[in-house]
Amino acid sequence: MHVYVLFAHPSHQSFTCEVLDEFIRGLRDAGHTFELGDLYAMGFQTDMDLKQYKREIGLDTTVPVPDDVKAEQDKIDKSDALVFVYPVWWSDCPAKLKGWFDRVLSYGYAYVYEKEGAHATSEIDISKALVICSAGHTVEHLEETGIAESMRRVMLNDRLLGVGVKDAKMEILGGMVGGGAAVRAQNLARAYELGKEF
Ligand SMILES: Cc1cc2nc3c(=O)[nH]c(=O)nc-3n(C[C@H](O)[C@H](O)[C@H](O)COP(=O)(O)O)c2cc1C
Repeated sequence: MHVYVLFAHPSHQSFTCEVLDEFIRGLRDAGHTFELGDLYAMGFQTDMDLKQYKREIGLDTTVPVPDDVKAEQDKIDKSDALVFVYPVWWSDCPAKLKGWFDRVLSYGYAYVYEKEGAHATSEIDISKALVICSAGHTVEHLEETGIAESMRRVMLNDRLLGVGVKDAKMEILGGMVGGGAAVRAQNLARAYELGKEF
């Protein structure tokens, strides 16, 4: 498979970057090819400007999407799968990645209303997506409080399955605040495994 791997963290010294490295090592060992989209390193524009906002709210496909948005859509079109690697910040992805969804999942590409009242269709042809996020809280805590479920609903059901991705899963690598060396090692081993089994 050819995989577009999106990474959203400002630091290459972070634990999340180690997760990315281990995942990619696994992906390589499994024989997959990939392209890395390091959103901070790319300086990806997070905010939707007024021109694109008017296009999106007006469902106006006669207005072209910005060049950087088109470039991201081309990367998606060249891929069979998408992977997102990021830290959980305030129970969601960093704003850098949220801005990627806001702008790249544009009208006419990620969704089109063919008929009034009918379900939207999509141009996106991705067979699977995997969301890997590191978290300070333990997975148990995030499950008990319902936050893990809300993250899955928003990220998987709305942003991925909702725009035509055929299969989407989330793996939370939790317990990173105060977890110690054993939790760290266990999470990194899991990151490698996720790449190897992809
Ligand atoms: C601004 C900010 C917000 C955070 N919010 C959450 C949160 O809502 N839930 C959680 O479990 N961890 C939260 N964390 C902890 C990170 O998810 C955790 O430290 C993660 O493993 C990232 O480590 P890294 O920055 O070394 O990659 C937050 C961290 C920061 C910096």
